[in-house]
Amino acid sequence: MKKFFAILLSIAMIFAFSACGVSDEPEEPGDDQEVTEDDELIEIDTDDEEDDQTEAEDETEEVVKENLLDPSEVEPRGDEPPTGDDKSIRGVPDLIDVLEYDDGDMLVLINKYHGSLPDYKPKDMVEVDPALATWSDLTMKKKAYKAYLKMYEAAKEEGFDLKICSAYRSYDGQQELFNNALANYSEEYAHMYSAYPGRSEHHTGLAIDITSASMDWSLRQDFADYPDGKWLYEHCQDYGFILRYLEGKEDITGYMYEPWHFRYVGKKIAKEIMKKGITLEEYLGKVDE
Ligand code: DAL
Ligand code: ZN
Repeated sequence: MKKFFAILLSIAMIFAFSACGVSDEPEEPGDDQEVTEDDELIEIDTDDEEDDQTEAEDETEEVVKENLLDPSEVEPRGDEPPTGDDKSIRGVPDLIDVLEYDDGDMLVLINKYHGSLPDYKPKDMVEVDPALATWSDLTMKKKAYKAYLKMYEAAKEEGFDLKICSAYRSYDGQQELFNNALANYSEEYAHMYSAYPGRSEHHTGLAIDITSASMDWSLRQDFADYPDGKWLYEHCQDYGFILRYLEGKEDITGYMYEPWHFRYVGKKIAKEIMKKGITLEEYLGKVDE
């Protein structure tokens, strides 16, 4: 199994490198990115807030944009990972339910069995400050972004230089990412690395991929071994985030270990989930096999 993950790691490095880039210069958005309402950059607010679970919804504007990967940035096909009988290698199972609209639930579950409609639109979206991201025009839910800003500041005080390299993704954007994965890797590997459109929690605006200067702005599994990756793992819960795709829980999440993918759930529940070392599926009692 160790060898399997070592090979996966090397493949992930190739693919993630292309997804997040190696430069700290933000990429220009594609022409097909559209802003339907005014942008807002949230100021870093160091005041303590009430617990996220009880905090009233902020009045915000809705922003609809796409975070698309330029296909020309994708690296050519690398070595194929080995195939086996690992239960985490799954295709596109039948859906148990589909999320139709955003009712504000921060614990919403999107995975291989619980999907979202193509025209699902998260509410209360804001633009990520381009200075804090590897791409311009990233958007995410305001509540999650405010929490991220606090985590970012705390990490900065520790000397870590973090950037968000993926946040909200539209259905079409996820389709493009998934197609790129399919075009470059085996079907089995693509399903472990990238969510099928309508099955990615990036569609909710509550998930972010975080990279750092120490990673040369790439996404790699050895992020977990670096001080900033370790710090994020240990402290994400204090800001309401969980590490969503845990090592050793691939059978439950359906995805490979992603030490860069954080999901906002609110402080109280994040602390419980991280303390127990469980997945969101386990916390919600929705382990579907
Ligand atoms: N990489 C995660 C599973 C996604 O594509 O949403
Ligand atoms: Zn992610």
